[in-house]
Amino acid sequence: MANENWIDVGAATELSATPLRRVKAGDRELALSFKDGRFGVVSNTCNHVGGPLGDGTLAGDYINCPWHNWKFHRCTGLGEPGFEEDAVPAFAVKVENGRVLVDMASATKRTRKPHAPHPLSRKIERAAGPVRVAGIATSPMDEANPRFSGSDHLLRHALASCAAHGAESRMIRLSELKFRACEGYYSKAAHACTWPCSITQMDESDQMDRVYEALVHWADAIIVATPIRWGAASSLYFKMAERLNCVQNAITIRDQVLIRNKVAGFIIVGGQDNIQGVAGQMLGFFAELGFIFPQFPYVAHSRGWSSEDMERNVELVRASAELAEGAAMLARRCIDLAARLIAQDEAPTTIERGGRKAHTLEMEKDKRMAAEA
Ligand code: FES
Repeated sequence: MANENWIDVGAATELSATPLRRVKAGDRELALSFKDGRFGVVSNTCNHVGGPLGDGTLAGDYINCPWHNWKFHRCTGLGEPGFEEDAVPAFAVKVENGRVLVDMASATKRTRKPHAPHPLSRKIERAAGPVRVAGIATSPMDEANPRFSGSDHLLRHALASCAAHGAESRMIRLSELKFRACEGYYSKAAHACTWPCSITQMDESDQMDRVYEALVHWADAIIVATPIRWGAASSLYFKMAERLNCVQNAITIRDQVLIRNKVAGFIIVGGQDNIQGVAGQMLGFFAELGFIFPQFPYVAHSRGWSSEDMERNVELVRASAELAEGAAMLARRCIDLAARLIAQDEAPTTIERGGRKAHTLEMEKDKRMAAEA
């Protein structure tokens, strides 16, 4: 038949030994499956953000993409029922003389069902108005039986002072939100960790979108408050931080700086110590996201190694006018810096990548390409 272009991709005995794998045909990567005595071949590249379908799993006759679980028929390339318009190229396949042959000229068209963009993916444009401060309380709490939290308490003081400086404020308490832990999409591949977060795009019930909305779109300044737990920030702080990998990763994979002209300050309250260690970790992390810090970017309190009487610590924080004032002054430093940054609007939208996280230097790229040639 005219216009056929059969390419040998391997021995049928070997290729029928696994239900799904990647194969190469010329310079194209294909996802080759074998089920019920029949081979199927589709493009290896998922319609979503390019996941490798050949590394996925078979669910019936559908290939489950290993990155975010979109499904495509292993022989026709059509999306799962209801999403047939979302199709990846499919190829004719036959076995001759024990060899599997794929007709590269038979590729069907890749088609995409329009997917409404996630609201978080909209262009980041600061809405006019006064400086906006988002407070993020990370103290874990039984919401039904709330207790006094020193870090929440000081954060409330900080936020309550914002109006006096002409700023709006909003508080987000992580313990009120239901959100999933980061499931390591970055560990599958850098491009699998998307902005907006893969989980946020897949799971409407996940409430981390409120944090993203505040950090990336709404706020000009954030104040993150944490207790100290065994010398580190709280478990909820780390649960949030892990989910913020997608914000940093947008720089890594697309050179897209989501956080511009934004300020971060911190409130750290511990029963014992390691305030400077906790502050160092938080400063390092938020610096990687693109936040800028005011002079003296955190206020903190602890009673030291020899003080196990936590009830006195609670009393002290609750009653201290000095700590409350310190929290309010932190808010003021954040607001003042945010106002200056907004007025100057000098933060870059992209950055020079040399020496930045996950950037491959040209010399390394040249070496790799030479080795592959
Ligand atoms: S589901 Fe395939 S790349 Fe996202």
